[in-house]
Amino acid sequence: MKALEGVKILDFTHVQSGPTCTQLLGFFGADVMKVERPGVGDATRKQLIDVEGADSLYFTMLNHNKRSMTLNTKTEEGKAVLEKMIKECDVMVENFAPGALDRMGFNWERVQELNPRMIMASVKGFGPGPYEDCKVYENIAQCAGGSASTTGFREGPPLVTGAQIGDSGTGLHLCLGIVTALYQREKSGRGQKVLAPMQDGVLNLCRVKLRDQQRLKAGPLQEYSQYGEDIPFGEATPRAGNDSGGGQPGRILKCKGWEKDPDAYTYFITQAAVWKNVCDVIGKPEWKEHEDYATPNARLSRLNEVFETIEEWTKTKTKFEVMDICNPLNIPVGPILSMKELAEEPSLRETGSIVEVDHPERGKYLTVGCPIKLSDSEVDVERSPLLGEHTDEILSNVLGYSADEIATMREAGAI
Ligand code: COA
Repeated sequence: MKALEGVKILDFTHVQSGPTCTQLLGFFGADVMKVERPGVGDATRKQLIDVEGADSLYFTMLNHNKRSMTLNTKTEEGKAVLEKMIKECDVMVENFAPGALDRMGFNWERVQELNPRMIMASVKGFGPGPYEDCKVYENIAQCAGGSASTTGFREGPPLVTGAQIGDSGTGLHLCLGIVTALYQREKSGRGQKVLAPMQDGVLNLCRVKLRDQQRLKAGPLQEYSQYGEDIPFGEATPRAGNDSGGGQPGRILKCKGWEKDPDAYTYFITQAAVWKNVCDVIGKPEWKEHEDYATPNARLSRLNEVFETIEEWTKTKTKFEVMDICNPLNIPVGPILSMKELAEEPSLRETGSIVEVDHPERGKYLTVGCPIKLSDSEVDVERSPLLGEHTDEILSNVLGYSADEIATMREAGAI
């Protein structure tokens, strides 16, 4: 038994944000039926192609555990099928550009009329306000949600991050909204509208930076390295390079081999509770009691010196040796792992966090499995569906259409 077994999802999502959400629902056992335009499908199927003629990794890695049906929802026949699906399903998930569903004839009022128990979940770039009609992609959300202005080095331009916090991050937010609404429906009997704007999702993940914005009123942010460098703060939370965002100062430091290996680095946190251990490890036992270094406050204006000294030590060890030496001493450190190292990491394979999947068009490939582990709802990662692979199956088994009716729809170009 899977956690969401029996929950039927009308998956109207495309590109990344929506599909990551419905993929999670699929991992948890929901029946995810992805509705795609006949002959076209989700645009990502044919984007960033690496194997000619096969669905791209972009698509396959975001659409596991789903069925695919083609349906032209702009034809009369297609609209009739969609109405039937809305009546049959528990959740409808979509991330069309603002207004697209209205133009299709399926706004929230119409959906509610068809199925008052329906949970209608949407990703949009922005919530209600001046930008609500805008189309948005990942990096726009990172910029509009406060991530880019606070990422990068002080002297450089704003930076976007490789973690897809705008798309996959918002997909996660939406997924939580959906299961929460399903839980409420158990008691209220009613569906509801769930909205996850990408700007809000990114801002939520940048919460600590809004914290720092408000702390600026009380004076310079002492844990930022610019404090120790006597560089005045401006009006907004600055970019902080690799400074840690919390109360325990940390940095990315070079390790043995850094001259040739771009990932020979470690993150090193000078957690106050284990400061004496840090001093012993780096060969500075005199810092344990010295008034300039012994307390976190004394160290704040000397963080550059402190981390430069620690780096002299980390440069003599590989990033894994730093782990092996520091972990037993409770010093929090972490190697900078490349995608190659992650792909080859046996423990991630064992836990199902990285999974090898077989696909009829492209053969074997790696994907990221379910990052959330439920002890009573095991995840089996199934390959992504081919375009329209399950059209007939869904039309007949879920919606009750006869073979003749399906043939007529096909002739009319509705599926
Ligand atoms: N049958 C018929 N038409 C279909 C269809 C189907 N099965 N599925 C989609 N369409 C139509 C839509 O109705 C829309 O038509 P219209 O504009 O004539 O009304 C059209 O396809 C295009 O949809 P749209 O969502 O506008 O796609 P786009 O490629 O132009 O824009 C985004 C892509 C991602 C920018 C946009 O969808 C968006 O801003 N989404 C919300 C935010 C978001 O999720 N962004 C992150 C994506 S990772």
